Amino acid sequence: MEAVLAAINERKQAFAKLPFFEFLQDESLEPHERLAFYPAMAHWIMSFADLNKYFLRAEATAGDAHQQRVNVYSHEDDDHWRLYVEDFRKLGFHQMLDGADWLGFLWGDETRANRMLSYRLSHLITGATSVQRIAIVEAMEEAANVFFPLTLRLAEQIREETGVELRYLGHFHFNLEAEHTGAGDHDALAQIELDDATRRRTLEMVGEVFDLFEDWADEVLRFAETQLSKRTPMLAPPAAAAAAAAAAATARPEHFIKVSRIM
Ligand SMILES: [Fe+2]
Repeated sequence: MEAVLAAINERKQAFAKLPFFEFLQDESLEPHERLAFYPAMAHWIMSFADLNKYFLRAEATAGDAHQQRVNVYSHEDDDHWRLYVEDFRKLGFHQMLDGADWLGFLWGDETRANRMLSYRLSHLITGATSVQRIAIVEAMEEAANVFFPLTLRLAEQIREETGVELRYLGHFHFNLEAEHTGAGDHDALAQIELDDATRRRTLEMVGEVFDLFEDWADEVLRFAETQLSKRTPMLAPPAAAAAAAAAAATARPEHFIKVSRIM
């Protein structure tokens, strides 16, 4: 597995250099402008729960330690979509479109890479052995480790400026992820023996995971830039949007994350 971990690290370094991650750090833009990409990843983030529950997880493990590790990971992350929805409201994106127009957006050309990320990963996982699932989880975690430290900084800035706490993009989710077991300790993973054919196929899988995430990063950047060029009303400062979100959240308590699950 050592070669697989090395490949994941190499792809992660290249991933971090993509223009989307420069955009997230572009100080010439306001923090809420840099979050204009947020609605474009809805399909992927919402599908991630299903990916965990119905693709990664296999409860009948029959003593398979690798699958048991994947199962633990799958339980840790399967309800984080609630936090995503919470920030969606706080940022005012629920006002971006009306009713059925959301369907055209979520299944339209401009969000294709996000859907493909969900679909292709589901397919990859279905055909993966438990040890290959660990490699896929590790690749997904490392892609997330490029993204969330940058959104954390934006969430901090928004909290300083407006008092609004973005729990998905900020510290709350970041701390949950930091407590995760993830795919497991790198040293222990490196010790896992793979035969040549398995190693080769696992390297291909990891390569595809990062190819998909690269397309994803390019797509969400394209969406953000289009939104910024249009200066659409969705880019309301979060403080204003937060008032509407607070009212909506009070009316819909089911949209809050399950407190018992995360405490
Ligand atoms: Fe998460």
